[in-house]
Amino acid sequence: MTTFVTGATGYLGSYVVHELLSQPGGHLSLLVRARDARAAQERLWRAMQLHVDFDRFRELVAERVDLYLGDITEPQLGLPPTAYARLLERTESIVHIAASLNRKSEKACLNVNLRGTLAVIKLAQAASDDHGLAHFSDVSTTAVAGQRQSEVVYEDTAIDWDRADYDPYARSKKFCEHMVHELLPEVPKSVFRPSMVIGDSRFAQTTQFDMVSAFAFLARLPVIPIEPNARIDTVPADYVARAIVAVHRGGGATDRTFHLSAGQGSQTAAQIVQALRIHGKPLTGRLVGELEGGASRLAKMAAQAPRGSTIGRFGSMMRVFWPYITFDTVFDNQRIVEYLGQAPPVVTEYMSRTLEFAIESGFKFPYKPWPDDAPALEVWSSQA
Ligand SMILES: NC(=O)c1ccc[n+]([C@@H]2O[C@H](COP(=O)([O-])OP(=O)(O)OC[C@H]3O[C@@H](n4cnc5c(N)ncnc54)[C@H](OP(=O)(O)O)[C@@H]3O)[C@@H](O)[C@H]2O)c1
Repeated sequence: MTTFVTGATGYLGSYVVHELLSQPGGHLSLLVRARDARAAQERLWRAMQLHVDFDRFRELVAERVDLYLGDITEPQLGLPPTAYARLLERTESIVHIAASLNRKSEKACLNVNLRGTLAVIKLAQAASDDHGLAHFSDVSTTAVAGQRQSEVVYEDTAIDWDRADYDPYARSKKFCEHMVHELLPEVPKSVFRPSMVIGDSRFAQTTQFDMVSAFAFLARLPVIPIEPNARIDTVPADYVARAIVAVHRGGGATDRTFHLSAGQGSQTAAQIVQALRIHGKPLTGRLVGELEGGASRLAKMAAQAPRGSTIGRFGSMMRVFWPYITFDTVFDNQRIVEYLGQAPPVVTEYMSRTLEFAIESGFKFPYKPWPDDAPALEVWSSQA
């Protein structure tokens, strides 16, 4: 089975690629944005080093990966005609992960999420017509449920076209789901909606610091402006990838949507603050729900500070994530828990380690460069 994966160089994409390559058999076609084959390999190594060392990376990629140097916003994914034809001919299933998560840019969300997803769907249609497509997996987000307050949201009733969205990202991802359903009626498919993805339940390291910095910032405040009983739905990346790959490979004539979330097992802000330790020390901040509104206004003001300034960066970050941290809404996960026979680990079991790693590393992953003595790998690529 050859699976075409978009978004392999991203945070969740690297997890899914690693999980797919951890299973025996199967080939991957990865679409990577890069100027040449060597740069594509280096970008993939950067993403994959959270999971494997260089020797294992080399082995897996050389044996089981083809690289397509393209861009989902370009005609035919930015591939030369012969490479597009080869990709089409070989594609037996698709995991579409690539997206713009730029919540502030309508342009980026429209281009990457809407036009890009349409281009991937067109490939899926062509593969389905040509030789059949075993499965199409669309990685969406719980943000498609729009603006909510103190609710439990279920998969089948999450999309409500009359409801306002928090940002263009949520709106565009909602329409992506719609396109997948409308344009691939005959193809077996799954839609996955992760909630806030934070860290890994197995180890401290992460390459994604957006939500982690938001939590680290809040954790160190003397007064934390969040309602103590607000539930915060987060899920570790390893669980998300395991779920996506299990359902994708499980195949069958399914047409289902899964919340990949903590659901009703989500912990409250008070439970999280009480359990977290940074370098063994408990948090000293006091949760004060009455300050939520003021903090939201402050974040909006701080977001206006000059681009690149520390206050501006924190303002932008808090402004973007604030609704998702404070809306006290959880996404029922019974469907995936039944499918996997396992609930996700709760955030307080691993979050202290993630925060400590982030703080110690200065919120930057210590990437290893491509080894000096290692030549480019012998991998098929659309630009050899
Ligand atoms: N992280 C979360 O908390 C979370 C929660 C819910 C849902 N999700 C969903 O999970 C998916 C992955 O998110 P992530 O956190 O892994 O994001 P990410 O780290 O920003 O990765 C995004 C990926 O998409 C690729 N991409 C962007 N524009 C592209 C284009 N024009 N052509 C080809 N590839 C393009 C990026 O490639 P480059 O490396 O070249 O930029 C990267 O590989 C998204 O669909 C997102 O909606 C994430």
